[in-house]
Amino acid sequence: MKKDLIFLGIETSCDETAASIVKKTKDGKINILSNIVSSQERVHKKFGGVVPELAARAHSEKIDFIISKAIKKSGVPLKNIDGIAATAGPGLLICLMIGMTAGKTIASSLSKPFYGVNHLEGHALTMGLFKPLRFPYLLLLISGGHSEFLSVEGIGKYKRLGTTIDDALGEAFDKTAKILGIKFPGGPKIETFAKKGNKNSFKLPRPILFKSGCNLSFAGLKTAVLLASKKVKTKQDKYNLAASFQNTVNEILKVKCKKAIQIFQERHKNIIHKNFIISGGVASNQSIRKNIKKISKELNFNSHFPPIHLCTDNAAMIALTGILNYEARKKSNLNMVSQPRWPLDEKAPFMKGAGLVL
Ligand code: KG4
Ligand code: ZN
Repeated sequence: MKKDLIFLGIETSCDETAASIVKKTKDGKINILSNIVSSQERVHKKFGGVVPELAARAHSEKIDFIISKAIKKSGVPLKNIDGIAATAGPGLLICLMIGMTAGKTIASSLSKPFYGVNHLEGHALTMGLFKPLRFPYLLLLISGGHSEFLSVEGIGKYKRLGTTIDDALGEAFDKTAKILGIKFPGGPKIETFAKKGNKNSFKLPRPILFKSGCNLSFAGLKTAVLLASKKVKTKQDKYNLAASFQNTVNEILKVKCKKAIQIFQERHKNIIHKNFIISGGVASNQSIRKNIKKISKELNFNSHFPPIHLCTDNAAMIALTGILNYEARKKSNLNMVSQPRWPLDEKAPFMKGAGLVL
């Protein structure tokens, strides 16, 4: 007989300490009972980027408090939690270990199942917090460390259709912000700058636009922004460069999303439910959302975006991933170790540096 499932999720892969309690009722409804995220923005600001040692220290100082807060806010007694999921990778090793150790300790003391889950799988399944997921669907995952198109074919079943061959899109946003003198984490502020600028002021490159399927490349664009920044004199110039950068990203995504949809359809001929889910931190950008909505509509795909606060790192997506892995009868793994590198499609070739295949 089916029963309600309540999971504690823990996320510490980078610079957010997060914990959440998620319930899936026996009739399939999902309730986020609590979702606590503590950002380390202040810790890393003066260094202009995430410092792993400081991130780990901040996680270890906060983790107990954040987990207790999530449990308290949910109103669920600890003994009623059915399982614990913590991010096992990819991410910063010492940061991952802190969340994993906390999760394993709670799981073993309660004799409940523990799942070390893939952070990217969390982003891939986030929409499941709001709507039942219907496989297969096309996924664009755009975050600070990853940019890839995947065909999501079931829990644990991912086929990579395209990926960045150099920088992640979030990284390009963050570097552009840094070049424009915006303090870390600057990525989201590019969007604000872009609103005040003229998108046609700077002509920027769109690497491998009509080459290499739906693979992506942002390193050349980042370098071009650096070169263009030499001409930036006024505040308005900064707004113009931000707008031109964001517009170029949208032009690239327009072509590459169309290509990815085509490749996805070739893989799933006669598919009836055409769903395109966009997730990860960069998916919170309003102009990117608008652009992809339009492209999807043109190609008869339904686009879906998680609410903005769940595009960026959170533990609700990790708790849900734990629940879905449990339901898919994946083995609970108390002995699992952290995995700093953990692609969703483990069979896909490595596409950076020496592994580059164009
Ligand atoms: O998913 P996420 O929180 O962490 C990773 O798993 O990497 O994504 C963080 C990334 C950062 O690079 C950040 O600059 C970017 O998402 N980001 C944005 C926006 N909000 C966050 N990029 C562009 N526009 C935004 N509004
Ligand atoms: Zn993430």
